[in-house]
Amino acid sequence: MTKSKFDRIRPVKWESNQLMLLDQRILPSEYAYIAYKDAKSVADAITDMVVRGAPAIGITAAFGVVLAARMHYAHDADNWKKSIVDDLAYLRASRPTAVNLFWALDHMQHIINQCESNPEPLLLQAALNILENDISNNKIMGDAGASVLQGNNAVLTHCNAGALATGGYGTALGVIRSGYQQGKIQQVYADETRPWLQGARLTAWELMHDDIPVTLQSDSVAGYLMQQGKIQWVIVGSDRIAANGDVANKIGTYSLAVLAKFHKVKFMVVAPTSTIDMAISSGDEIPIEQRNPSEVLSLAGQRIAAENTSAWNPAFDVTPAALVDVIVTEKGVIHQPDKEKMRVLMS
Ligand code: MRU
Repeated sequence: MTKSKFDRIRPVKWESNQLMLLDQRILPSEYAYIAYKDAKSVADAITDMVVRGAPAIGITAAFGVVLAARMHYAHDADNWKKSIVDDLAYLRASRPTAVNLFWALDHMQHIINQCESNPEPLLLQAALNILENDISNNKIMGDAGASVLQGNNAVLTHCNAGALATGGYGTALGVIRSGYQQGKIQQVYADETRPWLQGARLTAWELMHDDIPVTLQSDSVAGYLMQQGKIQWVIVGSDRIAANGDVANKIGTYSLAVLAKFHKVKFMVVAPTSTIDMAISSGDEIPIEQRNPSEVLSLAGQRIAAENTSAWNPAFDVTPAALVDVIVTEKGVIHQPDKEKMRVLMS
């Protein structure tokens, strides 16, 4: 089955020897790429949400390392491995929760250790491989996740785990793309996802782009949607999965998992193994990014709360493995995840 119609969005590109990022802050009203030539601006782009989504953050950081190596090698070919260290640390500090960032930077560090002359060709090839592997893994996961679905389904997704959050095709939206093509998914509901509105601005736009039926709803509708019996599955991505199968994802995911359990709606998490952190035993150890309260106090640049209102803005939450029915990875599918099944998958 051809996937070309469903595989057209590319948030991260390497063109004319520079990194191009689709500016996700202004989608869908504007579709514009920004060019990057240095690692610090790339790290700032990650922090400021020009690019977001766990796999896309990792891919972007890998290209950031290519730009850093180019600059430091040109400046001092004998000492670039020392002078690049600050840029690598700056990239590492760009966002704390998505483990794909650290996975990609560790991989690039490994390549740096092997470089003996001009590092750019080797590092560029490594970054391009990360990008291409991510896209092909997403297609594998798309089909693997769709094969779990039985009969006709309407599904709810949260945030954006689509092409925009990855190299292309998407994780949760990859399963939705494959499931729709196979006639197993007829309708998608997308949570708007306050405060950044990834669902309203990105997911709804992505699915409409592919002519997949999508209905946008405010986050608080989810319980009523399930109570009305309108969905069979919740399908989401992840920023980090612990060794026991606990899942960190966009704030609000945990609430959906609790609601899904109560309403006997199935809960699927779709993530490449680069999102799995076997170094931490449970979700309690996952660092949860705390973003600026101003993001909650305003909407589309317009202040909505009274002056001096205090606000709390955790960007992610952790769903315990016990609330997850299926984890889909490119290496296989786990039903009812636990520590032992995760160990076997990753061994
Ligand atoms: O804050 P964001 O937009 O980077 O959060 C993204 C998510 O929570 C996604 O669901 C997750 O990264 C998986 S993306 C395939």
